[in-house]
Amino acid sequence: MYRKLCRLTIGIFSVAVLAGCPSRVERYSPRIPDSAAHRQAVQQKNCLECHEVASVPHHSNSDDCTKCHIICRGC
Ligand code: HEC
Ligand code: HEC
Repeated sequence: MYRKLCRLTIGIFSVAVLAGCPSRVERYSPRIPDSAAHRQAVQQKNCLECHEVASVPHHSNSDDCTKCHIICRGC
C-alpha cells in the first residue's frame, strides 16, 4: 500500500513538472532580425501587422512579443 502510494505521488509529481515546463523559454526565443521594419516595430500591435501569430505554435495575439523576441544587432 505504501509503495503504491509512493509511486502514485512520484507519478503525479513528474506529470506536474513536465506540464509546467515552459515550451517557450524567453532567453532561447528566436531573435528579431535587425531590419528597418523591426527597429520601428516596438509594440505588439506592430508585430501583428506583419506576423500571423496564429500560425506560430504556442503563440497567441495577446502575447507580449518583445518580452521574448529582442532585436539582434550584429548577428
Ligand atoms: C513591416 C513588417 C514587420 C513587422 C512590423 C515586424 N516584422 Fe518580424 N519579420 C518580418 C519579415 C518580412 C521577417 C522575415 C525576413 C527577415 O528575416 O528579415 C521577419 C522575421 C521575424 C522573426 C524571425 C523569424 C525567423 O524565421 O527566424 C521574428 C522572431 C520576428 N520577425 C518577430 C517580430 C516581432 C516580435 C515584431 C514586433 C516587435 C515584428 N517581428 C515586427 C516582418 C515584420
Ligand atoms: C514566452 C516567449 C514568447 C512570446 C511572448 C512570443 N514568442 Fe514568438 N517565439 C517564441 C519561441 C520560443 C519561438 C520558437 C518556436 C517555438 O518554439 O514556438 C517563437 C517563434 C516565433 C516566430 C517564428 C520564428 C521562426 O523561426 O519561425 C515568430 C514570427 C514569432 N515567434 C513572433 C512572435 C510575435 C509576433 C509575438 C507577439 C504576438 C511573439 N512571437 C510572442 C517565444 C515567444
